[in-house]
Amino acid sequence: MEWTFSLKEISRVASEFLQHTRDYKVFALHGQMGAGKTTFVHSICDILNVDSAVGSPTFSLVNEYDYMTEAGEKQVFHIDLYRIKDEEEALQAGIEDCLYSGAMCFVEWPEKAPGIFPPHTADVFISAENEGLRTLKLQYPEGNL
Ligand SMILES: Nc1ncnc2c1ncn2[C@@H]1O[C@H](COP(=O)(O)OP(=O)(O)OP(=O)(O)O)[C@@H](O)[C@H]1O
Ligand SMILES: [Mg+2]
Repeated sequence: MEWTFSLKEISRVASEFLQHTRDYKVFALHGQMGAGKTTFVHSICDILNVDSAVGSPTFSLVNEYDYMTEAGEKQVFHIDLYRIKDEEEALQAGIEDCLYSGAMCFVEWPEKAPGIFPPHTADVFISAENEGLRTLKLQYPEGNL
């Protein structure tokens, strides 16, 4: 799947993304600084109607948000690995617990700790086309869940 969108269209894309990825839980978000990874995750959180105000994980590695579904309260994790040194640090911070929790996880800078991701991780590539346009590509892992 691939979308090209402006900020005005981002919530439509976030909701289409959620419809398409229903069975997938863990998303590795690839893209340069300023590509729009955080902005996209915030848009996803808006669609999910998370209870807490959406913050930035810049100062903490992991932000956890709660949202309500027909099946009860669920969590979504927004993780930013930019500041970690290596995989060891990610493991010590408990990132694996999030990735294997069954909750939805969005991870910025997955390249910092490629070895910690579950096999069912889907890759998302975000790139800037110009000032206001972004392209998002969604790539599922090989094989079925
Ligand atoms: N269509 C768009 N989608 C997302 N962001 C956009 C779009 N158009 C413009 N922007 C702007 O691009 C910037 C993206 O910043 P953002 O913090 O989301 O990037 P990031 O990929 O998370 O960077 P970092 O790797 O530094 O965390 C924001 O200032 C946002 O307003
Ligand atoms: Mg970011």
